[in-house]
Amino acid sequence: MNVHDSEQMAAILAGSGYKLTENIRFADLILVNTCSIRDKAAQKVYSALGRLVKIKEKSPELIIGVGGCLAQHLGTKFHKKFIHLDFVFGTHNIHRLPQLIAAVKEKREKITEIDFYKSINSIGVFTPPQNGAVSAFVTIMQGCNNFCAYCVVPFLRGPEMSRPPDDILEEIKKLADYGIKEVILLGQNVNSYGKTLENGMNIAALIKKIGKNSGIERIRFTTSHPRDLSDELIRCFAEEEKLCDHIHLPVQSGSNRILALMNRSYTAEEYMKKVDHLRKSNPRISITSDIIVGFPGETQIEYQETIDMMEKIRFDSTFSFKYSERKGTGAQKLEGKIEDCEKLKRLKQLQLLQDQHTLEKNIALEDTRQKILIEGRSKNSENDLMGRTSSWKIVNFNGESELIGKLVDVKISKAYLHSLRGKMINKEADSVD
Ligand code: 5AD
Ligand code: SF4
Repeated sequence: MNVHDSEQMAAILAGSGYKLTENIRFADLILVNTCSIRDKAAQKVYSALGRLVKIKEKSPELIIGVGGCLAQHLGTKFHKKFIHLDFVFGTHNIHRLPQLIAAVKEKREKITEIDFYKSINSIGVFTPPQNGAVSAFVTIMQGCNNFCAYCVVPFLRGPEMSRPPDDILEEIKKLADYGIKEVILLGQNVNSYGKTLENGMNIAALIKKIGKNSGIERIRFTTSHPRDLSDELIRCFAEEEKLCDHIHLPVQSGSNRILALMNRSYTAEEYMKKVDHLRKSNPRISITSDIIVGFPGETQIEYQETIDMMEKIRFDSTFSFKYSERKGTGAQKLEGKIEDCEKLKRLKQLQLLQDQHTLEKNIALEDTRQKILIEGRSKNSENDLMGRTSSWKIVNFNGESELIGKLVDVKISKAYLHSLRGKMINKEADSVD
C-alpha cells in the first residue's frame, strides 16, 4: 500500500512538473513516505531523516516533506524532532501535495496537514505505469474499521471507505491500454469492499466485473480478513479464470485465547475451515499468511498452538513478526509483555519451520507446467527472464526480452526456497493447448 501511495505522490507531482531522480543529490524535493506498523519501521524513518538533514544543510533551497502513517501519528511533533523539515502531510492529504509545496515555497514556513476527509479523494489518482511495467496496484478502498488490538492502522488511515466500482473499472481499462496485464486490488480489508457503497457491491462482484470488462489478464487482491472471506469470494477462485491461484489470508495466531485478545473475531478452527474450503474450491491455490509472535500474555503452549496450526495448514509462505507495542492500541494496556529475546527465539523457530514448508510446497511444483506472466529480466542471470506463476511464485528461465509482458508456459525443473527454475515450453500462450 505504501509503495502505491508513493507512486501516487510521484504521479501527482508529475502534474506540477516534477520528475523522479535516481540520485538524491539532484533532488529539489525529497518526500519520505513513512510506515508505523511496527517500531522498527518508525526507527528507519528517523535514521533516514537524520541523513537527509545533512544534505539540506548544504543546500538550503531543498524542500523536505514527510508523509504516511508516522506523519499522521506525529503531526506537528515531527517539526520539533527535525527542524529541517518543511512540511508534514497525512495519509488522506496526498492529493494536496502541489498546494502544500507551493505554500512552502511562497512562505518558507513549516506546514502540517493531517486532516481526515469524509470521502475518498487522496486515492484513485491515475498513476501511469513505468515503462515496461506488467503489473499495477489499484486501490479499491482505504481505511479499516477492525481495530485489531495490536494495530495502529485504523487510527492512522481512518474509517473504511470503498471506491465506486465504475471509477475502479475505468482506471483498470486505462492501465490495460498502457499494456498492464495484471492488477493487484489494494485495501486493508478488501473482503469488506462495498459496505460503504449504496449499490450492494462486494469484492466478488467487483472481481467478476473486472474479469469480464477490463482487458486485464490476471487479478490479485490483498489483504483479506478471514472473518469477511465470503463463500461467494471462495467460489471465485474456482470460477473466475482471471483471478489468480493465490490468497494472502493473515491468521496472526493459532491460539483461540490470543485471537480473542487480538480482537480478530474468528477461531483457529474457523480459520482452518476457510482454508479447507479454499483448497476444495481450487486445489492449486497457494495460501500465504501473516503471523505475530509474542503478543502480550502469549504462553509457550499458545505459541505452540500457532506452530501446530502451521504444521496442519502448511502455508506456501508467511510474513512473521515479533509483536511490537504501538501507542494508543488496545494491546498496549495488556499485561504479560514478553521479553524481546523470547520473542526472537519464537520468531526464529517459526521461520525455520516455514522455510521447510515453503521448500516442500515449491518442490511439489517440480515437473509441473505453469503459466508464467513475464515481469522482466532476472536479477540473477543475464540470460534469464523472471516471471510469476498464478500462485505468486517467482520463476527464472531462459528467454528473450521481447517476451516481457507475455504469458508463457514453463516446465518447472528445480525448486529452491525463494524461487523456481524452469524451461519455456511455448513462446506464446495463444499457441499452447
Ligand atoms: N506488531 C507486530 N506485527 C504487527 N502487524 C500489525 N501490527 C503489528 C504490531 N503491532 C503485522 C500483522 C499484519 C501485518 C501487516 O503486520 O501481522 O497482518
Ligand atoms: Fe490492522 Fe486488523 Fe485492520 Fe488489518 S484488519 S489493518 S491488522 S486493524
